[in-house]
Amino acid sequence: MSTSNPSASVLRLAPSILSADFARLGDEVRAIEAAGADLVHFDVMDNHYVPNLTIGPLVCEAIRPHVAIPIDVHLMVEPVDSLIPLFAKAGANIITFHPEASRHVDRTLSLIRDLGCKAGLVLNPATPLGWLDHCMDKLDMILLMGVNPGFGGQKFIPGTLAKLRAARQRIEEHQMKGGQAIWLEVDGGVKTDNIADIVRAGADTCVAGSAVFGAPDADGGYRTVMHQLRFAARPV
Ligand code: DX5
Ligand code: ZN
Repeated sequence: MSTSNPSASVLRLAPSILSADFARLGDEVRAIEAAGADLVHFDVMDNHYVPNLTIGPLVCEAIRPHVAIPIDVHLMVEPVDSLIPLFAKAGANIITFHPEASRHVDRTLSLIRDLGCKAGLVLNPATPLGWLDHCMDKLDMILLMGVNPGFGGQKFIPGTLAKLRAARQRIEEHQMKGGQAIWLEVDGGVKTDNIADIVRAGADTCVAGSAVFGAPDADGGYRTVMHQLRFAARPV
């Protein structure tokens, strides 16, 4: 079967450190980079926008010297803007946020780019693509949640596939009109048994938390899982 995703050959894998061993975070991010990760996915939760509490800019700053690959900061916080300069200073390369958590989405996107980072919007399973309508030119990434945000290890919501196809179409139309490249990332529930469908639906960047860090050991395990994910997603 051929792929409908022209970007499938450049699949990026972004292990989410939400499922890493937080007591050994430096080792963990070095291990995923050595195992072939393209990005470090960094989940920020505030116990307000989502019912969980994780890590902030100090932890981003602490892991920054341990890896050369970009740090992909996913803000699940409300309000959003005050944290952005702190993450930019802490070495974040990509900063994404949920638009309904920002009072002024266009301003927040500009703030991220003005600080030298790539900017993106994150849409929950029930959040419509219409949020993208008037800001495509300010996006470097669109992130579609495959689960409701807040926790790792949840099951992928199948309706995300149709949404990915629609988002891919929007990106293609934008680029046909001369617009900039926009990455299409999916986050939540990505496993070896569904990544092929996810990539064929249009994703070019896949977050995987429990799938990668659930592997039996840091040395061979992470590399093996990421190889299996890439192999399952290969264009055929
Ligand atoms: C959920 C987070 C995800 C999560 C993915 O709110 O944004 O990044 O860690 O974990 P898995 O891959 O286990 O679903
Ligand atoms: Zn995430």
